[in-house]
Amino acid sequence: MSEIDRELELLKKMLSNDDIEEIWINGPGLPVFIWHRKRGMINTGYKLSRDAIITFAKSVANMSGRPLSEETPLLDASLRTGDRVAIALPPVSPRGPSITIRKFRRKLYSIVELIENGTINDLVGGFLWVAVEGLRVRPLNTLIIGGTASGKTTLLNAICTFIPSNERVITIEDTRELNLSFIPNWEPLEAKPSYTGERGVTMDDLLRHALRKRPNRVIVGEVRGSEATTLLQAMNIGHLGSMGTLHANSAKDAITRLTSPPMSVPFEMIGVLDLIVCLRVWFTRGGTIIRRVSEIYAVGGLGEKKPTMDPIFKYDFTSDKIVMEAYPYLAYEKIAEVLLISPKEIEKEVERRASILRNMVKSGIRSVVDTRRIFERYYEENI
Ligand SMILES: Nc1ncnc2c1ncn2[C@@H]1O[C@H](COP(=O)(O)OP(=O)(O)OP(=O)(O)O)[C@@H](O)[C@H]1O
Ligand SMILES: [Mg+2]
Repeated sequence: MSEIDRELELLKKMLSNDDIEEIWINGPGLPVFIWHRKRGMINTGYKLSRDAIITFAKSVANMSGRPLSEETPLLDASLRTGDRVAIALPPVSPRGPSITIRKFRRKLYSIVELIENGTINDLVGGFLWVAVEGLRVRPLNTLIIGGTASGKTTLLNAICTFIPSNERVITIEDTRELNLSFIPNWEPLEAKPSYTGERGVTMDDLLRHALRKRPNRVIVGEVRGSEATTLLQAMNIGHLGSMGTLHANSAKDAITRLTSPPMSVPFEMIGVLDLIVCLRVWFTRGGTIIRRVSEIYAVGGLGEKKPTMDPIFKYDFTSDKIVMEAYPYLAYEKIAEVLLISPKEIEKEVERRASILRNMVKSGIRSVVDTRRIFERYYEENI
């Protein structure tokens, strides 16, 4: 085995280690850093040669069919595994060729696992189950917000397991992360960055394209630009139960970001959203990370300058419990009025589903496949 092969073998090992989330190669002869799922940033002490880095970079460029040279020194590409590679060559990277690899997490969290680790509780689970499925008639339009790595995409993917199998779902992302392979009629779309002389495909382009393909709902991985307005328009014209994540530290911050450039959503459209779910991260003294749904708001007031935002669930740090802050009348009413039933009936349904989730926790039914089977059976028998 040559020296280069040995170095590449080492890189392969890091790529297949599921505890490693990110790999940072800053340049030849410099220590390789990683981000470890449980331990955070680690200096591995390994150093790679220029030849090894270039060999790897070239293989990525070849596979992606995109140029990589001194003239086009930046390259973003996905590996077949979904792992994302960002390459920079000199002169933009003066310490020599550098590579960052963000690994695609193969393991999805199920709703039951998020209950088990305290991200939500069974009542919030039952609530989100009813909200996302909407008793077949009125799924709620939901935005998941939070800071960097607060678990937005993870929660979004987990609540998508509530989507019934007879729906057509299109996901739109900058970087492929969502995995809805449990939905038979799922079409993922991924934006294409623009290169010199070539126009890319933006998230907004994709969203407009998606709306011509008769989806029941569209799911936008991370809302950042002009696609925000298109997403809210989609919700408004009947793609109910559409969802997305947004980087924001509070619901108020989310509205400000949505209505300011580059997103520039007209104020009167905010009320087309039904729910805002906020995530937050806390670091304990022992150095462990806890992720919790910190608040859930019901949104209303479509067409008004001042949309209403009622807090319905709130996380209390001292007791480590998520409690119902106010009766979710607005959210229940939106579903109940279509069915000509009382909001009380929706409340009962939320409690019934919360108890099913509780039983799943007790009996250890926790994989995405197994939880999904239970949800499907429930729809067959009850809806
Ligand atoms: N509820 C959770 N419990 C335990 N780990 C989680 C949870 N949510 C996310 N994680 C882990 O935290 C990391 C970041 O999660 P995720 O990508 O979902 O966050 P995000 O808020 O979407 O991040 P970004 O700001 O990059 O979009 C992942 O490694 C994921 O496995
Ligand atoms: Mg995300």
